Amino acid sequence: MNVLVCDPISPKGIALLQQRPEFAVTVLKQKTEEGALLPLLKDVQAMIVRSETKITRKVIEAAPLLRVVGRAGVGVDNVDVDAATQRGIVVMNTPGGNTISTAELTFSMLMALARKIPQAHLSMKEGKWSRKEFQGTELLNKTLGILGMGRIGSEVAKRALAFGMKVAAYDPYLSLARAKALQVDLKENTDDVYAAADFITVHMPMTEETKGMVNAAAFAKMKRGARILNCARGGIINEADLHAAIQSGQIGGAALDVYETEPPPADFPLRALPQVVMTPHLGASTEEAQENVGIEVAEAIIDYLLSGAVRNAVNLPNLDVRGGQTVFVSRRQIGPSGGAVGAQAQRPHRSHLRRQSPAMAHRPDHAFGAQRVPRNGRRQGSQPGQRPGAGRRAGLGGQGNQIERRNRF
Ligand SMILES: NC(=O)c1ccc[n+]([C@@H]2O[C@H](COP(=O)([O-])OP(=O)(O)OC[C@H]3O[C@@H](n4cnc5c(N)ncnc54)[C@H](O)[C@@H]3O)[C@@H](O)[C@H]2O)c1
Repeated sequence: MNVLVCDPISPKGIALLQQRPEFAVTVLKQKTEEGALLPLLKDVQAMIVRSETKITRKVIEAAPLLRVVGRAGVGVDNVDVDAATQRGIVVMNTPGGNTISTAELTFSMLMALARKIPQAHLSMKEGKWSRKEFQGTELLNKTLGILGMGRIGSEVAKRALAFGMKVAAYDPYLSLARAKALQVDLKENTDDVYAAADFITVHMPMTEETKGMVNAAAFAKMKRGARILNCARGGIINEADLHAAIQSGQIGGAALDVYETEPPPADFPLRALPQVVMTPHLGASTEEAQENVGIEVAEAIIDYLLSGAVRNAVNLPNLDVRGGQTVFVSRRQIGPSGGAVGAQAQRPHRSHLRRQSPAMAHRPDHAFGAQRVPRNGRRQGSQPGQRPGAGRRAGLGGQGNQIERRNRF
C-alpha cells in the first residue's frame, strides 16, 4: 500500500510507517501545490498532512485508491472533508498529541498574567528598572474558572490545584463523578463560574454555541478585575468586547494565543493594551507535541490500513467495522488486516456514538454526529453557556474524552 507523507512530520512517525513491510512510504521534501500533487496520487491509499498541503476535491478525485487522510494536528481546514466523506475516505486528526503542550502554555500564560512577566521583561529590555509598576498577584487561594473540561481543561485544572488554586468549572458534558475525581467544583452554568473566578480560561471547541460566548454580557457578570485567557480558539471570546472591558477596568488583563483572524492585523487593537499578553498560536509548538502528533497520525494510519480500526476520525466515530459489525476500538488495538473499506460510509449504531472521538465536537454539523445529551439531561435551549446545544448535531465531549484519555495517558 502506498502512503504519501505530504508535509513534514516527526521522523519517528515516518519510521513507524517504514517499518511495516506492507507499506511503500513516499515523503515529499517540500510543500507541493495542487497541480504538482495530482500526478502523484494514482496509486496512493493514504495521505498524511499537517496544515500546509491542501487536500482539495480535485486532489481527492485524482486519488482513486485513497482510503484515509491523516492530519498531524487538530484543525482540518486544509482538507475538503465533505468531498472525502462522499468518497468514503476517512479523515483522521490527532487531538491528543498536543494536550500537555497547550495546557502548559495556558499555565505559563496564567503566571505571566499574574506577575506581569512579559511587561516587566519588555521594560528591562528597554533599559528601565521599574519595580512598582509590575506588582502582581499570587495564585494561592485564588479561583480559576475553567470553561470546557476536556483533555486540555482537565490538565490545566491539575496544574492549578498544584498551585493551591481552587477550580470552578463549567462543562455541560462532564459527569459529576469525573469532576469529583478531578477535584473541581463543577458549576451548573457559566454565570456561577463568572461570579467565583479570579482568572477564567476557555478550553472548548469553536462551535455555533461557543462562538462569542464570552462577551460583554459575560464580562459584566465577572468579578471586577478578573483576568481572561484564551488558548483554545479565536472567537470564543469576543475581541471587541474584551477590548472595551479592559479599557473600562472591568477586566484586569488577558492572555491570548488564538485570534478571530490569524494572524491578527498589525493595528489589531488588543496589541496596544499593556494588560494583554499575546502569543502567536503556540499551543502545540513544542518538540514533544510535534513528535506526538507525528507518531499518533502514523499509528492511526497503520491501524486503519491494516485492521480497519478507525479512531479520531472527523467524519466517522471511533469504530471498527468488521463483518458488518461496528465496534469501538481503543488506541492500541491493532488487529489483523481486514477492515472493511466498503463499510466506511455505513451509519453506525447510535449507542456507539457515545464513544466517538472528541474531535467530533469540533464538527457539530457532522453527518454521523448524534445530538449530545448534557449532564442535566434537559432538552437544551440556545442561551450560550446556560442551555447549550438546541437541536445541535454534535460529537461527544467530556465522557468520550475520558475514554480517549484513559487509552492515551
Ligand atoms: N492553542 C493551540 O494551539 C491549541 C492546541 C490544541 C487544542 N486547541 C484547542 O483547545 C480546545 C480544547 O481542546 P481539547 O483537546 O481539550 O478538546 P476536548 O474535546 O478534549 O475538550 C473540549 C471540552 O469542551 C466541552 N464543551 C463543549 N461545549 C461546551 C460549552 N458550551 N461550554 C463548556 N464546555 C463545553 C466538551 O464537553 C469537552 O469536554 C479546542 O478548541 C482546541 O481546538 C488549541
